Amino acid sequence: MNPAKRRTVIAGNWKMNFTPAEATAFINEIKPMVAGKDNCDIIFCAPFVSIAAAMEAAKGSNIVIGAENVHYEAKGAYTGEVSAEMLKAIGVNTVLVGHSERRQYFGETDETVNLRTKAALAAGMRVILCMGEVKEQRLAGITNEICAMQIKLDLAGISAEDMKNVIIAYEPVWAIGTGLTATPEQAEDACAVIRATLAELYGNEVAEATTIQYGGSMNDGNAAELLSKTNVDGGLIGGASLVAKKFTAIVDAAQ
Ligand code: 13P
Repeated sequence: MNPAKRRTVIAGNWKMNFTPAEATAFINEIKPMVAGKDNCDIIFCAPFVSIAAAMEAAKGSNIVIGAENVHYEAKGAYTGEVSAEMLKAIGVNTVLVGHSERRQYFGETDETVNLRTKAALAAGMRVILCMGEVKEQRLAGITNEICAMQIKLDLAGISAEDMKNVIIAYEPVWAIGTGLTATPEQAEDACAVIRATLAELYGNEVAEATTIQYGGSMNDGNAAELLSKTNVDGGLIGGASLVAKKFTAIVDAAQ
């Protein structure tokens, strides 16, 4: 991370975990543990039904509660989806878009990820845009090309001004939930490629100011080394974001 140039962001993605009661208990547990640790933003993205409870518990703390997805239309016949306006109406200003599980299991494409990102930004929300290569692409030696292509497609039509509200989460799919973490060098190399692509699209100033997180089996044991890399400005954490002690250790690594 380069704290002189950009904000470090440590975010948890709870995925399909935590009922409202569990979310309340978790936030109440972790709130005092991360209190005053202000060298990074702390975010938990919660399942839709648990957002309100998590927000209530997080009131007055340095914890921000976000959502895990958002639809690109304002309203209408889109069963099971939630719009940016709906999220904003309950006070949610941060949202994950394009997580690999959405792409893998629910048919999301770079096109829908781009539409969702645009809709969230138009509503004034902050987007954590997730991308990254699958195992076959890494083995084929095309990680850099895949990362550059995803960034270009996912950010198509998004202005330099809007990039102030975009965080990129580089999440190599082979490292998610597998216990296989990218090495700090692999994470740094991919994040550097992403930053170079941002520079190509928006110029150096925007590229240098954009927070790029690493995600994929980040935990209390490997966070410090990953976060020590110049282009790794934070983490997007799955499994370890469900355990207060582990997540707090990652926040500590970012201080
Ligand atoms: P894990 O930390 O469980 O590998 O999940 C990472 C992730 O997908 C965060 O969005």
